[in-house]
Amino acid sequence: MDRIRIRGGNELKGTIAISGAKNAALPLMIASLLTDDTLTLENVPHLADVELLTRILGNHGVDMSVVGKRLHHDPALGRTIHFNARNIVDTTAPYELVSKMRASFWVIGPLLARMHQCKVSLPGGCAIGTRPVDLFIDGLRALGATIDIDAGYAVAEAKGGLVGNRFVFPKISVGATHVLMMAATLAKGETVLENAAREPEIVDLADCLIAMGAKITGAGTSRIVIQGVPALSGARHRVLPDRIETGTYAMAVAMTGGDVVLTGTRADLLPTAMATLTGAGAAISEVENGLRIYRNGGGISAVDVTTDPFPGFPTDLQAQFMALMTKANGTAAITETIFENRFMHVQELARLGAKIQLSGQVARVEGVSRLKGAPVMATDLRASVSLVIAGLAAEGETTVNRVYHLDRGFERLEEKLSGCGAEIERISG
Ligand code: EPZ
Repeated sequence: MDRIRIRGGNELKGTIAISGAKNAALPLMIASLLTDDTLTLENVPHLADVELLTRILGNHGVDMSVVGKRLHHDPALGRTIHFNARNIVDTTAPYELVSKMRASFWVIGPLLARMHQCKVSLPGGCAIGTRPVDLFIDGLRALGATIDIDAGYAVAEAKGGLVGNRFVFPKISVGATHVLMMAATLAKGETVLENAAREPEIVDLADCLIAMGAKITGAGTSRIVIQGVPALSGARHRVLPDRIETGTYAMAVAMTGGDVVLTGTRADLLPTAMATLTGAGAAISEVENGLRIYRNGGGISAVDVTTDPFPGFPTDLQAQFMALMTKANGTAAITETIFENRFMHVQELARLGAKIQLSGQVARVEGVSRLKGAPVMATDLRASVSLVIAGLAAEGETTVNRVYHLDRGFERLEEKLSGCGAEIERISG
């Protein structure tokens, strides 16, 4: 199994190109199931989760082709992939595939809307929390589907097609909002989704669906209205920049010092995280085609943070911010409200010398003047990258094991960081 070895202490200086967002690319790829025409996605990141989803879509019969690399092709520009779901040959999403990535459960929306029936494995357990699918089931039932849970599968049917309705999410869910919005595009009549998620990835999916002929208003607000249409067409759409990757590298710069320009990204994708980072001592400014980050003179200040749905502080940046706070002047309280088990990085950060006290959903991080490198590992993607950030500022050598977590969501991480002066390398085997 590959590992990442870091020798800490270098400031980051240079330019990092931000990739297309994993969490936008996945639902956009799934949206290809809604039409028999070709959906072309640009700026698709090269990630393990994207590859896994291509296998899942391929299993349903989606024909995919990646536009070949041209000479001098800049990998930072991302890939263009064509998806064609004219011949859906199988409406079952099997356990072997769905259990590897939760988002693959989301195929339930488009398959039900277009094929009027499907059988999708329940995703099963997850390292960061229980993550049930009740909101998906209740929402699709509100659109007229019958759904039975049988032998670990959601067996869904909508004879004659889905029918628009009003659905109030009892809790904000990104995935359930994606799925109901996709399903409603082909339902008869009007669907109103209340208390919907407002993440930029929801807006990106809505933009793509609108380009495909869907009638959607209100994406990006908590009330989304969808007028169903009989069929959607193909479209060409560019995946929006990855705000979590943006925040992660911004935190790495705040941690090590230095001066980095993150290209191809925008501050409005992560307003609370940017404000929090500024409070912690980073200077962030908009430059042509991106953001410039550098440490604002002094050290790192302690700032309390509570994770929240967008536009709040993203749970997907909580671990990285905790890594930053391990070297802050003072004590920061970090409260996780989205997932009940998303503190698996605490013990690993402690191995590097961090002082963190955990009490329920609150971690109190008392900044220390120095971290010391050590072998570490993590159980999920964002936790793993928090260890990389800590390793960049730790004295000596840090080895991050289980790199496959990082490969799920960070494209060419070692290359991007070493290009800015970090001593970081992948060790195979
Ligand atoms: C998305 O997951 C992201 N994944 C996650 O990113 C992210 O952490 C999360 O949203 C929150 O922002 C993708 O976009 C692929 P939710 P999702 O449904 O949609 C509960 C990463 O590291 N809930 O918004 O699965 C749930 O348990 C990943 O890239 C129910 O109770 O998250 C959680 O407590 C990890 N019932 C809360 O809602 C349901 O039916 C929010 O989860 C659905 C969710």
